[in-house]
Amino acid sequence: MKLLDGKIIRDEILEKLKENTQSFIKKGNRAPSLAVILVGDDPASLSYVNSKHKMCEALSFVHFDYKLCEDIAEEELLALIDRLNCDESVDAILVQLPLPSHINESNVINRISKKKDVDGFTENNLGRLVQGLDCFIPCTAKGILDMLDYYDIPTRGKSITVIGRSNIVGKPLAILLMNKGRDATVTVCNSHTENLKRFTKDADIIVVAAGKADLLNSSMTKDDAVIIDVGINRIKDESRKKGYRIQGDVDEKSFESTSCLVSPVPGGVGLMTVISLMENTFKAAVIRSKSEIHN
Ligand code: GUN
Repeated sequence: MKLLDGKIIRDEILEKLKENTQSFIKKGNRAPSLAVILVGDDPASLSYVNSKHKMCEALSFVHFDYKLCEDIAEEELLALIDRLNCDESVDAILVQLPLPSHINESNVINRISKKKDVDGFTENNLGRLVQGLDCFIPCTAKGILDMLDYYDIPTRGKSITVIGRSNIVGKPLAILLMNKGRDATVTVCNSHTENLKRFTKDADIIVVAAGKADLLNSSMTKDDAVIIDVGINRIKDESRKKGYRIQGDVDEKSFESTSCLVSPVPGGVGLMTVISLMENTFKAAVIRSKSEIHN
């Protein structure tokens, strides 16, 4: 087994983005800025928001954090998004998901201006993605494509199985992989798929984004498959200071004696997701700077 190291790629992109940001600022632009909205105090969401916050600081991006209480009314959240949409000092807006069940996720996401939708989750962005047009690419999907590119892993003509059909990862990734240029043959499985092994055994690349620890092991794959683990599962572990450990959806140990390429958890896709968000934020700032000139 060989590991696909997310940290090396993240650091390389980070250095390049730092340079691009400095030259953007030297040209008279203000620093890119990202507003992150978190509703409630789910510990996993809090931890993701903190890592976004830290990465903004590493890049000297401006960040605005909005921590709203669990029982906030949907109207109030929509009003905040309206304000941020109009705020000239905000380039990018992200609403951390999932939202509490009394809030309609789709109403909230689609309220975000298409020019500030750095998650790429709005109808406009996803519609453009399906049509193969320029858009904000959802961060995890973008991170996975960058990881495949960094390691020169081809997708053209390959059989790729994506496990998980979420709007955040599985669906956009499957579409990007089948679009012109990537040219893969994609199978998308979900939690109802019968006999999962049928779809993983012959796959050249398997992306596991199901949120289920140890879902995939080496008995289910070819001996030289590429395995991308998107899972971030908190497993109770009293021996750890935090009381839990992070584990992916892949039983990494079972792959040790194979020739597979495996992205580890932690240290794999999670790092790529956050740096992709920073790249999208920079892209939003560039779009804003160009529209300032034209207006
Ligand atoms: N929750 C889990 N992943 C994501 C993501 O990529 N974006 C947002 N907004 N929420 C998430």
